[in-house]
Amino acid sequence: MDNWKLKEHPQLSRNNIVAVVVLDGWGEFKPDKYNCIHVADTPTMDSFKKSAPGRWRLLRAHGSAVGLPTEDDMGNSEVGHNALGAGRIFAQGAKLVDLALASGKIYQDEGFNYIKPSFETGTLHLIGLLSDGGVHSRLDQLQLLLKGASERGAKRIRLHILTDGRDVLDGSSVGFVETIEKDLAELRGKGVDAQIASGGGRMYVTMDRYENDWDVVKRGWDAQVLGEAPHKFNSAVEAVKKLREQPNANDQYLPPFVIVDENGKAVGPIVDGDAVVTFNFRADRMVMLAKALEYEDFDKFDRVRFPKIRYAGMLQYDGELKLPSHYLVSPPEIDRTSGEYLVHNGVRTFACSETVKFGHVTFFWNGNRSGYFDSNLEEYVEIPSDSGITFNVQPKMKALEIAERAKKAILSRRFHQVRVNLPNSDMVGHTGDIEATVVACKAADEAVKIIIDAIEKVGGIYLVTADHGNAEDMVKRNKSGEPLLKDGNIQVLTSHTLKPVPIAIGGPGLPDDVKFRTDLPNGGLANVAATFINLHGYEAPSDYEPSLIEVTDD
Ligand code: 3PG
Ligand code: CO
Repeated sequence: MDNWKLKEHPQLSRNNIVAVVVLDGWGEFKPDKYNCIHVADTPTMDSFKKSAPGRWRLLRAHGSAVGLPTEDDMGNSEVGHNALGAGRIFAQGAKLVDLALASGKIYQDEGFNYIKPSFETGTLHLIGLLSDGGVHSRLDQLQLLLKGASERGAKRIRLHILTDGRDVLDGSSVGFVETIEKDLAELRGKGVDAQIASGGGRMYVTMDRYENDWDVVKRGWDAQVLGEAPHKFNSAVEAVKKLREQPNANDQYLPPFVIVDENGKAVGPIVDGDAVVTFNFRADRMVMLAKALEYEDFDKFDRVRFPKIRYAGMLQYDGELKLPSHYLVSPPEIDRTSGEYLVHNGVRTFACSETVKFGHVTFFWNGNRSGYFDSNLEEYVEIPSDSGITFNVQPKMKALEIAERAKKAILSRRFHQVRVNLPNSDMVGHTGDIEATVVACKAADEAVKIIIDAIEKVGGIYLVTADHGNAEDMVKRNKSGEPLLKDGNIQVLTSHTLKPVPIAIGGPGLPDDVKFRTDLPNGGLANVAATFINLHGYEAPSDYEPSLIEVTDD
């Protein structure tokens, strides 16, 4: 593209220092004891809401506002940060896979035709998250793929499941395994040799992200490829039920297991000549496995065996690395993101988070693209996350370190945009530990304070928002909004929510007459990019969703 030059904004000046802060998993909901943000001491976020008329509002962060198939789809970090960074709404992986399955195009395209020759003599392996969470994968899509592949010649199918409990209720894994077992039994009835071969909890097996802990991927590799795991069972339903009985066990962290036959032999290791599909559509937690399955040169762990397979992702997960090289459905083409415009206009950017969310403000922000647009103008800093713990143990996570690093970047005056993600309310919210989530929210609020104090010192501007809800509602509710009891107990909600998120703007560099427009009541995350492009003193590209702000005359 040639025309990267942005028009100067007629009223707003350039060269401001703008802090863009994303609180991960911070939605707006009624005051309630299960609203950890309400329970926590959060004076900074509260002050935005109370004291700045026209400078605080809510944004839609779920469903169609972020390109998901239905209004029942909760927001998530991938689609949220895509929308925040790209300023437009793209039909996202979940929806693209739905369409490709419905039209049958998935079976006509390159990816499926690439793996198909292996059906002749090899096994088709399907690896992914088994739930209907709709964040990384969806059960109904897997069911359709199983049916479609078997109708098109797959005679031997092995499923390698990852149990969820993070985008869905803990304990729901059993039901999902039972459901898929029924489908596999039906296939067997039709003469297809189809069964579950291995499994494990998503946070302990396979689905690490941003190279936080390769051991997670290795555990999966051992079970899926080598057919080795500490636990062996004859059936997956039994495996999940039994492993859940262990002390402190939950779906997210189930240990790896393999299914063995009556002779104790693993039923489905991946071997030369097989086909493999990773059926998650979401990128971040599949990239590491994709590397292990695809890269000839690979040194992150000892693969022991590197089978010659035909591998396709549900989607291509990384547009820059072109990984994997074969995929069943083309990913959304998230082009001309704000980051790319900013470098073309000389705007210097600093982006920072800790490992578990680092890719959110870089990779997702830039349209699922790794690396810099222009390393002379951008600096991305990753603060190492604690590994090997669940974040309720350290709910403050690295919020302080992220804030201090952002403060340093702001005070250095070397950057125009200082962008951070504060993970606490999301990462601790996902553990379902309500007390720890309260601590997490307080820590995130303190981090925001450090950043806006630095902005105050340099006369800059801040924009504080969130990518989706999580910590503001930690309980499953019935239709009238009351906690839904099961056996007399509440059911803790570990997942995201459908709630809107706040956005606040301010700082000494923001002229008094800049306010949120009142004519965009349905504004969502995709309106944020045009907003901060204005705060940098430019008009946003004409096809971006409109800016949320106006410069009033009064
Ligand atoms: C995860 O991957 O941790 C959850 O499924 C979704 O959380 P995120 O969208 O906030 O990353
Ligand atoms: Co989350």
